[in-house]
Amino acid sequence: MSDLIKTLIKKNKSCNSVWFMRQAGRYLPEFRKIRQQNQNFIKLCLNSELSSQISLQPVERFDLDAAIIFSDILLVPHVLGQDVIFDKEHGPNLSKFNQQTFLNFEKDNFLSKLKPVYDAINKTRKKLKKDKSLISFIGGPWTLLVYMMNLKKNKNEIDRNKFKDNKQKMQKILSSLIEYLCLHIKNQISAGADIVQVFDSWAGLLENEYLNELCFEPNYQIVEFCKKENIPVICFPRGIKEKYAEFNLKVKPDGLNIDYEIDPTWARDNLTGVTLQGGMNPKILLRGQEEINAEAKKYLDIFKDVPYIFNLGHGLVPETDPEKLGNLVKFIRNY
Ligand code: CP3
Repeated sequence: MSDLIKTLIKKNKSCNSVWFMRQAGRYLPEFRKIRQQNQNFIKLCLNSELSSQISLQPVERFDLDAAIIFSDILLVPHVLGQDVIFDKEHGPNLSKFNQQTFLNFEKDNFLSKLKPVYDAINKTRKKLKKDKSLISFIGGPWTLLVYMMNLKKNKNEIDRNKFKDNKQKMQKILSSLIEYLCLHIKNQISAGADIVQVFDSWAGLLENEYLNELCFEPNYQIVEFCKKENIPVICFPRGIKEKYAEFNLKVKPDGLNIDYEIDPTWARDNLTGVTLQGGMNPKILLRGQEEINAEAKKYLDIFKDVPYIFNLGHGLVPETDPEKLGNLVKFIRNY
Protein backbone atom coordinates (compact mmCIF):
# COMPACT_ATOMS: atom_id res chain seq x y z
CA MET A 1 0.00 0.00 0.00
CA SER A 2 1.43 3.39 -0.97
CA ASP A 3 1.93 6.14 1.64
CA LEU A 4 -0.66 8.16 -0.20
CA ILE A 5 -3.30 5.47 0.22
CA LYS A 6 -2.37 5.01 3.87
CA THR A 7 -3.00 8.72 4.38
CA LEU A 8 -6.26 8.61 2.43
CA ILE A 9 -7.77 5.46 3.89
CA LYS A 10 -6.10 4.76 7.21
CA LYS A 11 -5.83 8.46 7.98
CA ASN A 12 -2.13 8.11 8.87
CA LYS A 13 -0.57 11.38 10.00
CA SER A 14 2.74 13.02 9.15
CA CYS A 15 3.87 10.62 6.45
CA ASN A 16 5.10 13.61 4.43
CA SER A 17 3.69 12.27 1.21
CA VAL A 18 3.87 14.61 -1.75
CA TRP A 19 2.85 14.97 -5.38
CA PHE A 20 1.89 18.00 -7.48
CA MET A 21 -1.00 18.83 -9.76
CA ARG A 22 0.39 19.39 -13.28
CA GLN A 23 3.60 17.67 -12.21
CA ALA A 24 3.86 16.43 -15.80
CA GLY A 25 3.91 19.63 -17.81
CA ARG A 26 5.60 22.51 -19.52
CA TYR A 27 7.91 23.50 -16.63
CA LEU A 28 9.90 20.30 -17.30
CA PRO A 29 12.44 20.45 -20.17
CA GLU A 30 11.98 16.73 -20.82
CA PHE A 31 8.24 17.36 -21.34
CA ARG A 32 8.82 20.37 -23.61
CA LYS A 33 11.09 18.25 -25.79
CA ILE A 34 8.32 15.71 -26.44
CA ARG A 35 5.70 18.44 -26.73
CA GLN A 36 7.71 20.26 -29.42
CA GLN A 37 7.57 17.19 -31.61
CA ASN A 38 3.86 16.66 -30.88
CA GLN A 39 1.97 19.87 -31.61
CA ASN A 40 -1.47 18.31 -31.34
CA PHE A 41 -2.13 18.10 -27.59
CA ILE A 42 -5.14 15.76 -27.79
CA LYS A 43 -3.21 13.40 -30.06
CA LEU A 44 -0.34 13.44 -27.58
CA CYS A 45 -2.73 12.50 -24.75
CA LEU A 46 -3.94 9.58 -26.88
CA ASN A 47 -0.42 8.28 -27.57
CA SER A 48 -0.11 5.65 -24.86
CA GLU A 49 3.66 5.24 -25.13
CA LEU A 50 4.39 8.97 -24.86
CA SER A 51 1.66 9.55 -22.27
CA SER A 52 3.24 6.88 -20.08
CA GLN A 53 6.73 8.33 -20.55
CA ILE A 54 5.51 11.81 -19.62
CA SER A 55 3.63 10.52 -16.56
CA LEU A 56 6.84 8.96 -15.26
CA GLN A 57 9.07 12.00 -15.89
CA PRO A 58 8.36 13.90 -12.64
CA VAL A 59 8.40 10.72 -10.53
CA GLU A 60 11.82 9.79 -11.89
CA ARG A 61 13.16 13.28 -11.40
CA PHE A 62 11.78 14.01 -7.89
CA ASP A 63 10.91 10.59 -6.45
CA LEU A 64 7.33 11.72 -5.76
CA ASP A 65 4.78 9.44 -4.08
CA ALA A 66 2.56 9.17 -7.13
CA ALA A 67 2.38 9.46 -10.86
CA ILE A 68 -0.74 11.09 -12.30
CA ILE A 69 -1.60 9.81 -15.71
CA PHE A 70 -0.81 12.33 -18.47
CA SER A 71 -4.17 13.00 -20.05
CA ASP A 72 -6.78 15.76 -19.86
CA ILE A 73 -10.27 16.27 -18.47
CA LEU A 74 -11.34 17.40 -21.96
CA LEU A 75 -10.66 14.01 -23.55
CA VAL A 76 -14.14 12.96 -22.46
CA PRO A 77 -15.99 15.69 -24.43
CA HIS A 78 -13.50 15.11 -27.26
CA VAL A 79 -14.33 11.43 -27.65
CA LEU A 80 -18.03 12.26 -27.26
CA GLY A 81 -17.86 14.23 -30.48
CA GLN A 82 -16.65 17.75 -29.74
CA ASP A 83 -13.45 19.02 -31.30
CA VAL A 84 -11.11 20.50 -28.69
CA ILE A 85 -8.73 23.22 -29.72
CA PHE A 86 -6.19 24.80 -27.39
CA ASP A 87 -5.99 28.49 -28.01
CA LYS A 88 -2.86 30.00 -26.37
CA GLU A 89 -4.69 33.14 -25.22
CA HIS A 90 -8.19 31.94 -24.36
CA GLY A 91 -7.53 28.40 -23.21
CA PRO A 92 -9.42 25.39 -24.56
CA ASN A 93 -12.13 25.92 -27.15
CA LEU A 94 -14.73 23.26 -27.97
CA SER A 95 -16.79 23.00 -31.13
CA LYS A 96 -20.55 23.47 -30.75
CA PHE A 97 -22.29 21.04 -28.43
CA ASN A 98 -24.88 18.81 -30.08
CA GLN A 99 -27.28 17.25 -27.60
CA GLN A 100 -28.44 14.54 -30.02
CA THR A 101 -24.92 13.36 -30.83
CA PHE A 102 -24.08 13.43 -27.14
CA LEU A 103 -27.12 11.52 -25.86
CA ASN A 104 -27.02 8.91 -28.61
CA PHE A 105 -23.35 8.09 -28.25
CA GLU A 106 -22.48 4.38 -28.07
CA LYS A 107 -20.77 3.32 -24.84
CA ASP A 108 -18.56 0.80 -26.67
CA ASN A 109 -17.40 3.50 -28.99
CA PHE A 110 -16.64 5.78 -26.04
CA LEU A 111 -14.47 3.13 -24.43
CA SER A 112 -12.62 2.11 -27.58
CA LYS A 113 -11.73 5.76 -28.26
CA LEU A 114 -10.32 6.09 -24.74
CA LYS A 115 -8.39 2.83 -24.94
CA PRO A 116 -5.02 4.63 -25.35
CA VAL A 117 -5.56 6.19 -21.89
CA TYR A 118 -6.10 2.75 -20.37
CA ASP A 119 -3.07 1.38 -22.22
CA ALA A 120 -1.00 4.28 -20.89
CA ILE A 121 -2.13 3.51 -17.33
CA ASN A 122 -1.24 -0.14 -17.82
CA LYS A 123 2.23 0.67 -19.17
CA THR A 124 2.87 3.22 -16.41
CA ARG A 125 1.80 0.85 -13.63
CA LYS A 126 4.25 -1.75 -14.88
CA LYS A 127 7.15 0.71 -14.74
CA LEU A 128 6.18 2.36 -11.46
CA LYS A 129 7.63 1.09 -8.17
CA LYS A 130 5.18 -0.92 -6.06
CA ASP A 131 5.09 1.63 -3.23
CA LYS A 132 3.98 4.47 -5.54
CA SER A 133 0.41 5.32 -6.43
CA LEU A 134 -0.95 5.89 -9.90
CA ILE A 135 -3.60 8.61 -9.92
CA SER A 136 -6.35 8.67 -12.51
CA PHE A 137 -8.71 11.60 -12.87
CA ILE A 138 -11.82 13.06 -14.41
CA GLY A 139 -13.24 16.56 -14.68
CA GLY A 140 -16.13 17.41 -12.40
CA PRO A 141 -19.41 17.19 -14.34
CA TRP A 142 -20.14 20.91 -13.90
CA THR A 143 -16.62 21.90 -15.01
CA LEU A 144 -17.02 19.76 -18.13
CA LEU A 145 -20.40 21.38 -18.84
CA VAL A 146 -18.74 24.80 -18.66
CA TYR A 147 -16.40 23.77 -21.48
CA MET A 148 -18.92 21.70 -23.45
CA MET A 149 -21.59 24.41 -23.49
CA ASN A 150 -19.07 27.24 -23.57
CA LEU A 151 -20.67 28.83 -20.51
CA LYS A 152 -17.91 31.27 -19.61
CA LYS A 153 -18.05 34.90 -20.64
CA ASN A 154 -14.43 35.58 -19.76
CA LYS A 155 -11.74 34.01 -17.63
CA ASN A 156 -13.62 34.13 -14.35
CA GLU A 157 -17.27 34.69 -15.08
CA ILE A 158 -20.28 32.70 -16.19
CA ASP A 159 -22.39 34.04 -19.05
CA ARG A 160 -25.62 34.26 -17.04
CA ASN A 161 -27.92 34.45 -20.05
CA LYS A 162 -26.37 31.40 -21.64
CA PHE A 163 -26.55 29.58 -18.32
CA LYS A 164 -30.26 30.36 -17.94
CA ASP A 165 -30.98 29.40 -21.57
CA ASN A 166 -29.31 26.02 -21.09
CA LYS A 167 -30.44 25.36 -17.52
CA GLN A 168 -33.43 23.10 -18.35
CA LYS A 169 -31.30 20.81 -20.50
CA MET A 170 -28.56 20.44 -17.91
CA GLN A 171 -30.02 17.73 -15.69
CA LYS A 172 -30.42 15.31 -18.57
CA ILE A 173 -26.95 15.99 -19.93
CA LEU A 174 -25.40 15.81 -16.47
CA SER A 175 -26.83 12.42 -15.63
CA SER A 176 -25.61 11.00 -18.92
CA LEU A 177 -22.21 12.63 -18.43
CA ILE A 178 -21.91 11.11 -14.95
CA GLU A 179 -22.52 7.68 -16.46
CA TYR A 180 -19.72 8.20 -18.97
CA LEU A 181 -17.40 9.51 -16.26
CA CYS A 182 -18.08 6.48 -14.05
CA LEU A 183 -17.34 4.19 -16.99
CA HIS A 184 -14.10 6.06 -17.56
CA ILE A 185 -13.20 5.70 -13.86
CA LYS A 186 -14.00 1.99 -13.90
CA ASN A 187 -11.72 1.40 -16.87
CA GLN A 188 -8.91 3.46 -15.40
CA ILE A 189 -9.12 1.32 -12.25
CA SER A 190 -9.09 -1.90 -14.28
CA ALA A 191 -5.99 -0.65 -16.09
CA GLY A 192 -4.12 -0.15 -12.82
CA ALA A 193 -4.96 3.24 -11.27
CA ASP A 194 -5.30 3.14 -7.47
CA ILE A 195 -6.59 6.67 -6.71
CA VAL A 196 -9.12 8.93 -8.45
CA GLN A 197 -9.08 12.72 -8.38
CA VAL A 198 -12.10 14.78 -9.47
CA PHE A 199 -11.17 18.24 -10.77
CA ASP A 200 -14.18 20.53 -10.41
CA SER A 201 -12.09 23.55 -11.36
CA TRP A 202 -15.01 25.89 -12.07
CA ALA A 203 -17.15 25.05 -9.02
CA GLY A 204 -16.39 28.57 -7.76
CA LEU A 205 -18.27 30.11 -10.68
CA LEU A 206 -21.59 28.67 -9.49
CA GLU A 207 -23.97 30.90 -7.60
CA ASN A 208 -24.87 29.50 -4.18
CA GLU A 209 -28.39 28.52 -5.22
CA TYR A 210 -26.98 26.09 -7.81
CA LEU A 211 -24.09 24.62 -5.82
CA ASN A 212 -26.06 21.69 -4.47
CA GLU A 213 -27.58 20.63 -7.78
CA LEU A 214 -24.58 21.21 -10.05
CA CYS A 215 -21.60 20.57 -7.79
CA PHE A 216 -22.34 18.70 -4.54
CA GLU A 217 -24.83 16.23 -6.00
CA PRO A 218 -22.79 15.21 -9.10
CA ASN A 219 -19.62 14.91 -6.99
CA TYR A 220 -21.54 12.83 -4.45
CA GLN A 221 -22.65 10.40 -7.15
CA ILE A 222 -19.09 9.99 -8.37
CA VAL A 223 -17.73 9.55 -4.85
CA GLU A 224 -20.38 6.91 -4.15
CA PHE A 225 -19.38 5.11 -7.33
CA CYS A 226 -15.70 5.16 -6.27
CA LYS A 227 -16.61 3.83 -2.82
CA LYS A 228 -18.51 0.99 -4.46
CA GLU A 229 -15.44 0.26 -6.60
CA ASN A 230 -13.24 0.40 -3.51
CA ILE A 231 -10.92 3.11 -4.74
CA PRO A 232 -9.99 6.22 -2.72
CA VAL A 233 -11.21 9.48 -4.25
CA ILE A 234 -9.95 13.04 -3.81
CA CYS A 235 -12.25 15.94 -4.74
CA PHE A 236 -11.14 19.40 -5.75
CA PRO A 237 -14.10 21.82 -5.88
CA ARG A 238 -11.91 24.84 -6.59
CA GLY A 239 -13.06 28.29 -5.54
CA ILE A 240 -16.09 27.53 -3.36
CA LYS A 241 -14.61 29.25 -0.29
CA GLU A 242 -16.34 28.45 3.04
CA LYS A 243 -18.72 26.12 1.16
CA TYR A 244 -15.89 23.58 1.32
CA ALA A 245 -17.34 22.67 4.73
CA GLU A 246 -20.76 21.85 3.26
CA PHE A 247 -19.11 20.01 0.37
CA ASN A 248 -17.20 17.85 2.82
CA LEU A 249 -20.29 16.99 4.86
CA LYS A 250 -22.46 16.22 1.85
CA VAL A 251 -20.02 14.56 -0.57
CA LYS A 252 -17.80 12.73 1.97
CA PRO A 253 -14.77 12.05 -0.23
CA ASP A 254 -11.66 10.31 1.15
CA GLY A 255 -9.57 13.35 0.32
CA LEU A 256 -10.23 17.02 -0.27
CA ASN A 257 -7.78 19.28 -2.12
CA ILE A 258 -7.97 22.87 -0.88
CA ASP A 259 -7.23 25.82 -3.14
CA TYR A 260 -4.97 28.73 -2.18
CA GLU A 261 -7.87 31.00 -1.19
CA ILE A 262 -8.62 28.67 1.71
CA ASP A 263 -7.01 29.58 5.02
CA PRO A 264 -5.20 26.38 6.06
CA THR A 265 -5.96 26.86 9.77
CA TRP A 266 -9.66 27.24 8.94
CA ALA A 267 -9.43 24.10 6.81
CA ARG A 268 -7.82 22.08 9.60
CA ASP A 269 -10.49 23.17 12.10
CA ASN A 270 -13.54 22.97 9.83
CA LEU A 271 -12.85 20.21 7.31
CA THR A 272 -12.72 17.19 9.54
CA GLY A 273 -13.04 13.44 8.96
CA VAL A 274 -11.30 13.81 5.62
CA THR A 275 -7.68 13.72 4.41
CA LEU A 276 -6.67 17.20 3.33
CA GLN A 277 -4.39 17.83 0.38
CA GLY A 278 -2.69 20.86 -1.16
CA GLY A 279 -3.31 24.52 -0.48
CA MET A 280 -0.04 26.32 -1.16
CA ASN A 281 -0.17 28.91 -3.92
CA PRO A 282 1.80 27.57 -6.92
CA LYS A 283 3.06 31.13 -7.60
CA ILE A 284 5.08 30.94 -4.35
CA LEU A 285 7.36 28.60 -6.26
CA LEU A 286 8.46 31.54 -8.41
CA ARG A 287 10.09 33.16 -5.34
CA GLY A 288 13.38 32.37 -3.61
CA GLN A 289 14.03 28.97 -2.03
CA GLU A 290 13.88 30.25 1.54
CA GLU A 291 10.47 31.78 1.02
CA ILE A 292 9.25 28.62 -0.71
CA ASN A 293 10.39 26.38 2.12
CA ALA A 294 9.01 28.75 4.76
CA GLU A 295 5.58 28.66 3.12
CA ALA A 296 5.70 24.86 2.86
CA LYS A 297 6.70 24.70 6.54
CA LYS A 298 3.61 26.74 7.38
CA TYR A 299 1.38 24.10 5.75
CA LEU A 300 3.27 21.17 7.26
CA ASP A 301 3.05 22.71 10.76
CA ILE A 302 -0.64 23.52 10.55
CA PHE A 303 -1.50 20.02 9.30
CA LYS A 304 0.95 18.05 11.44
CA ASP A 305 -1.77 16.37 13.55
CA VAL A 306 -4.23 15.54 10.78
CA PRO A 307 -3.94 13.31 7.71
CA TYR A 308 -2.40 15.59 5.05
CA ILE A 309 -0.86 15.16 1.61
CA PHE A 310 1.45 17.90 0.44
CA ASN A 311 0.39 19.44 -2.90
CA LEU A 312 -0.61 22.87 -4.19
CA GLY A 313 -3.74 25.02 -4.36
CA HIS A 314 -3.77 24.66 -8.16
CA GLY A 315 -1.46 23.22 -10.83
CA LEU A 316 2.24 24.05 -11.20
CA VAL A 317 2.75 27.01 -13.52
CA PRO A 318 5.00 26.66 -16.61
CA GLU A 319 7.49 29.22 -15.20
CA THR A 320 8.34 26.96 -12.22
CA ASP A 321 12.04 26.18 -11.85
CA PRO A 322 12.39 22.37 -11.60
CA GLU A 323 15.45 22.77 -9.38
CA LYS A 324 13.48 24.74 -6.79
CA LEU A 325 10.73 22.14 -6.90
CA GLY A 326 13.34 19.42 -6.28
CA ASN A 327 14.66 21.33 -3.27
CA LEU A 328 11.12 21.73 -1.95
CA VAL A 329 10.54 17.98 -2.18
CA LYS A 330 13.77 17.35 -0.22
CA PHE A 331 12.69 19.91 2.39
CA ILE A 332 9.32 18.17 2.82
CA ARG A 333 10.92 14.71 3.08
CA ASN A 334 13.37 15.85 5.74
CA TYR A 335 10.93 17.91 7.77
O1 CP3 B 1 0.31 16.40 -14.47
C1 CP3 B 1 -0.91 16.37 -14.36
O2 CP3 B 1 -1.55 17.03 -13.53
C2 CP3 B 1 -1.69 15.39 -15.23
C3 CP3 B 1 -2.21 15.87 -16.45
C4 CP3 B 1 -3.31 16.92 -16.48
C5 CP3 B 1 -3.40 17.85 -17.53
N1 CP3 B 1 -4.57 18.53 -17.40
C6 CP3 B 1 -2.41 18.02 -18.61
C7 CP3 B 1 -2.39 19.27 -19.35
C8 CP3 B 1 -4.42 17.12 -15.65
C9 CP3 B 1 -4.79 16.43 -14.35
C10 CP3 B 1 -5.21 18.13 -16.26
C11 CP3 B 1 -6.51 18.57 -15.72
C12 CP3 B 1 -7.20 19.71 -16.34
N2 CP3 B 1 -7.25 20.03 -17.66
C13 CP3 B 1 -8.03 20.62 -15.63
C14 CP3 B 1 -8.31 20.58 -14.16
C15 CP3 B 1 -7.23 21.19 -13.36
C16 CP3 B 1 -7.11 22.69 -13.51
O3 CP3 B 1 -6.11 23.11 -14.10
O4 CP3 B 1 -8.01 23.40 -13.07
C17 CP3 B 1 -8.54 21.53 -16.57
C18 CP3 B 1 -9.47 22.71 -16.28
C19 CP3 B 1 -8.05 21.14 -17.84
C20 CP3 B 1 -8.34 21.78 -19.15
C21 CP3 B 1 -7.11 22.32 -19.74
N3 CP3 B 1 -6.13 21.56 -20.36
C22 CP3 B 1 -6.71 23.67 -19.82
C23 CP3 B 1 -7.49 24.83 -19.22
C24 CP3 B 1 -5.52 23.70 -20.52
C25 CP3 B 1 -4.79 24.91 -21.04
C26 CP3 B 1 -4.24 25.76 -19.99
C27 CP3 B 1 -2.89 25.27 -19.56
O5 CP3 B 1 -2.68 25.13 -18.35
O6 CP3 B 1 -2.06 25.10 -20.45
C28 CP3 B 1 -5.13 22.36 -20.78
C29 CP3 B 1 -3.90 21.90 -21.44
C30 CP3 B 1 -3.02 21.00 -20.63
N4 CP3 B 1 -3.45 19.92 -19.93
C31 CP3 B 1 -1.60 21.07 -20.52
C32 CP3 B 1 -1.20 19.99 -19.74
C33 CP3 B 1 0.20 19.59 -19.39
C34 CP3 B 1 -0.71 22.10 -21.21
C35 CP3 B 1 -0.58 21.67 -22.63
C36 CP3 B 1 0.59 22.26 -23.32
O7 CP3 B 1 0.42 23.32 -23.93
O8 CP3 B 1 1.64 21.63 -23.31
